[in-house]
Amino acid sequence: MTPAIEPTQESVFTIREIAPKIFDMTIVSSTEEGSAALISKHAKAGQFVMIRGGEEAERIPLTIAQTEPEKRAVRLIFQVAGTSTHKLSLLKPGDPVLNLAGPLGKPSEIVEGKKVLVIGGGVGIAAILPIARELYHAGNEVTVVLGARTTALLILKDEFAQISHHLTLCTDDGSEGHKGFVTDAIKDLVAYRGVYDVGWAVGPTIMMKMCSEIAKQLDFPLWTSLNPIMVDGTGMCGGCRVLVGDEVFFACVDGPEFDGRLVDWDNLMLRQKQFKNEEADSYHHCRLEDQLNSR
Ligand code: NAD
Ligand code: FES
Repeated sequence: MTPAIEPTQESVFTIREIAPKIFDMTIVSSTEEGSAALISKHAKAGQFVMIRGGEEAERIPLTIAQTEPEKRAVRLIFQVAGTSTHKLSLLKPGDPVLNLAGPLGKPSEIVEGKKVLVIGGGVGIAAILPIARELYHAGNEVTVVLGARTTALLILKDEFAQISHHLTLCTDDGSEGHKGFVTDAIKDLVAYRGVYDVGWAVGPTIMMKMCSEIAKQLDFPLWTSLNPIMVDGTGMCGGCRVLVGDEVFFACVDGPEFDGRLVDWDNLMLRQKQFKNEEADSYHHCRLEDQLNSR
C-alpha cells in the first residue's frame, strides 16, 4: 500500500504592525516537511524567501529575519510598499500562505574575532538583524548603527541592544539618537574608534551607495544586500541582473550580498525604477478595490 502523503500547509502564526506600515509576521508549517519547517532548519543569515500574499499578488523576495526550527517557524518583517506587500499585510493569524520558497541566495560570510560594523537603514534594519546576531555569537566586536526617518520607524532597537557591543541610533529629524543619516554617525565612529575590519549595510539603495563610498575611502570591505526586481529568485529569469566590478551577476543566486565598493549603484537604481509607474497603478487599484469591498 502506498503510504499516505501528509498535506503540508504554511499559515500565519502571528502578525503585528510594529511601526507605521511595517509588519512583523511569523509563518509556521503544519508538518516537518512544510516549507517553513525546512526553511527554519536550513536558513542562514543573509538568505531570503520568495512569498506570495494571495492569489492575485506577485511573488516577492523578503529577507529572513529569524528562524525557530523547533517551532517550524520563519519570521519576516516587511514594509507595505505596493500591492504584494499590502496583500501580505492583510493576512490574519491562521490564514494560509500560498507560496513560500527558500532559503534562497548565498548566506553572509560570517567572520570571527574581528571588529565589525553593522549598518541598518529604515526597514533594512530587519534584514540586518540575523547578520548582527551571527556576528555577535561568532565572537566579533560588533558596532551597530541604526537609522530611520523618525523615532516611530526606528525598529528592533531592544533586539539589537542584546547582540551588539556598541549601538548608535540616528534619525533624520533628530527625534531619537543623533540627528542625521547613518553616514554621519559612521564618520564620527571611525574618527573615535578607528577603521573596521569589515562591515555590512542594508537599507535603501542610496544609503548603501553612500556607505560604500565611505568604505572605499577608508579601505574596508562592506557587504551590501542588493534588491533589484526579482521574479523567480532562482536564477531563471535574469530580472535581477546587477553589475559588480564590471561583471554581470544575478543577485538572487550570486548574492544578494556584494562588496558595495564594487557595485555599479547608478545602474542598480535605474533598473529599480523600471516598473515604478506600473507598481504605483497596481497599488492604487488594489487600495480602491479594498475600499469598495469594505463598504
Ligand atoms: P528611508 O528612506 O527612511 O532611509 C532610512 C535611513 O537610511 C535614513 O534614516 C538614513 O539614515 C539612511 N539614508 C537615507 N538616505 C540616505 C542618503 N542619501 N545618504 C546616507 N544615508 C541615507 O528608508 P526606508 O523608507 O525604510 O527604505 C525603504 C527602502 O529600503 C526600500 O526602497 C526598500 O526596497 C529598501 N530595502 C532594502 C533591503 C535590502 O535588502 N537591501 C531590505 C529592506 C528594504
Ligand atoms: Fe530571476 Fe534572479 S530573480 S534570475
